[in-house]
Amino acid sequence: PLPPPFQVPLPIPPVLKPVGTVAGADRYEITQRETSAEILPGVRTPLWTYEGGFPGPTIESRRGRPVTVTHRNLLPVPTVVHLHGGHTPAASDGYPTDLVLPEHWHDTAHGGHVMHDPRAVRSRVTRDYTFPLDQRAALLWYHDHRMDFTAPAIWRGLAGLHIVRDDVEDALGLPSGARELPLMIADRAFAADGALTYPALDPALRGRPGVHGPYLAGVLGDVILVNGAPWPVHEVDAARYRLRILNASNARHYELEAVADDGRVLELVQVGADLGLLTAPVAHRSLPIAPAERYDVVVDFSQVPVGGRVRLVNRLGSGRTREVMAFRVARKAADASRVPRTLARDVPEWRRSEAVRVRDLSFRAGRMHGRHGWVIGGLPFDPVRTDVTARLGEVEVWRLIADVHHPVHLHLVGFRVLSRGGGPPLPHDAGLKDTVSLRPGESAEIITRFEGYRGRYLFHCHNAEHEDMGMMANLEIV
Ligand code: C2O
Ligand code: CU
Repeated sequence: PLPPPFQVPLPIPPVLKPVGTVAGADRYEITQRETSAEILPGVRTPLWTYEGGFPGPTIESRRGRPVTVTHRNLLPVPTVVHLHGGHTPAASDGYPTDLVLPEHWHDTAHGGHVMHDPRAVRSRVTRDYTFPLDQRAALLWYHDHRMDFTAPAIWRGLAGLHIVRDDVEDALGLPSGARELPLMIADRAFAADGALTYPALDPALRGRPGVHGPYLAGVLGDVILVNGAPWPVHEVDAARYRLRILNASNARHYELEAVADDGRVLELVQVGADLGLLTAPVAHRSLPIAPAERYDVVVDFSQVPVGGRVRLVNRLGSGRTREVMAFRVARKAADASRVPRTLARDVPEWRRSEAVRVRDLSFRAGRMHGRHGWVIGGLPFDPVRTDVTARLGEVEVWRLIADVHHPVHLHLVGFRVLSRGGGPPLPHDAGLKDTVSLRPGESAEIITRFEGYRGRYLFHCHNAEHEDMGMMANLEIV
């Protein structure tokens, strides 16, 4: 029962209200629970949700104003919450074995090794995560991060947005209010009865992790959802809009292009990257976006006559996966927004000469528990092995090399892309990133300073299936 494209209105996830403020920190509560929703017409889709919705509610924060989120787990399996892009102390970063247990959970029900990991914190049904949010304004997202089962949990709905704002950004005059749209793009596959299909070896997501053979490279769906709706449409004024785009897909890459009905391609004026505003805008005709990447772009719909339509298409898709969503230009309207030539003056700029070391890290197919998996530096993830030890305050260059497409993500810190394929970075590598999309056979260099907090963090491929099948490593900050 697939709907024709551009019929369903674009949902905007609700902004979560704090339940209170304690000592200048906003407190939120999120219950993780099962529910169902009518995503495709006429059928219900069972979901795992944050607060009953997919996407979960959006949290809006101010830079430097701490937030505590109490998560309560009413799902049938343990969960872990990670704030992707958050500059977060290790205790709240959502380490994959740092579980929030469901209400009636007995260790014996779990066949895996996770519960016996000595690092697994004594877990409970509710759990407070504290985020200082002492970081640049940016679109972050929160999602499940349980060891071995992150991909199917996100697939079932455990993902939401967290927007950090600050005065610098407010002063720029970028499109705002109803003209700022969060767009969480994610592909999914559905059975005829509306249920999501996912090729997990253990559909209960308790025992054996991983997916069936044909899906080792990653799970793709044939339905493109934006904010949880299939190929939605949004009515816009003939004015500039700020699109806060997140690719929350497990494995699908997109190359987004905004095409008007007369065939004209509208510029995507990028103002921000994963971790906040660029120094200056960069205009793109199309924009590649790998899993977990975010792009902050301004599109000017006043270039399209009233009554016209602009489709956001995926140049890498075919047939219906080529379409993402559409905008219908409904009316003329005043527009006081602008895109200043200088956006941010605080994008960190580390010089190669500052780096105390260069590390080489390969991302390749390999073996994990005797099966096909994905490995970093030849090794599959092991929660008790430290892979990289970095010193607080030190600058490092990492040389990453990939066999196939791997979007590589670091927890805790943002980085700059120094080079790609031996040459300069590409236009879309601009700004402060937390995920870099390595293309097949490609190497890239990134540079960062490890700062903020000590403790055990992660880096991994954000193709969620690769991540679950070994492509993750420990980053210990000392
Ligand atoms: Cu979206 Cu370990 O991250
Ligand atoms: Cu990968």
